[in-house]
Amino acid sequence: MAASDITALIHAATAARDRAYAVYSNHPVGAALLADDGQIYAGCNVENAAYPLGNCAEPAAIAAMVLAGGRNIAHLVVAGPGQVACTPCGGCRQRIHEFGAPDTRITMCDVDGNIVLETTLGDVLPHAFGGANVTGTKTYD
Ligand code: THU
Repeated sequence: MAASDITALIHAATAARDRAYAVYSNHPVGAALLADDGQIYAGCNVENAAYPLGNCAEPAAIAAMVLAGGRNIAHLVVAGPGQVACTPCGGCRQRIHEFGAPDTRITMCDVDGNIVLETTLGDVLPHAFGGANVTGTKTYD
């Protein structure tokens, strides 16, 4: 990926984070993904007074991609508040897996948009359960 592309992804993630509705946790998160159609889709967390009904940023970005017709995530950037890497929660890792691959890049950046952690989906969700498990076509390499 060209350097300009990751810059665009980081910008989209931090811009999404600035729109987050995180009034209960004060932990705004933005996510931006590069899809197979070459487009960037972004989302933010949206909390709710009934706490379990809050949504993470990653599924919002995924929903935007799916609505536009995209089906594969090449690279995902997550922008959290503060300096600590906001790694996707367990549920989000599974949701990313639905449209990702072991080599899907996941980049975390801090409040200032600086990269603090680079990893892959395969590293954060090894031995993932997916569609091939359901259909009985799972293979191992
Ligand atoms: N959050 C995300 O949006 N993505 C993650 O992967 C981690 C957590 C949100 C959910 C909640 O609104 C806030 O961060 C604190 O947990």
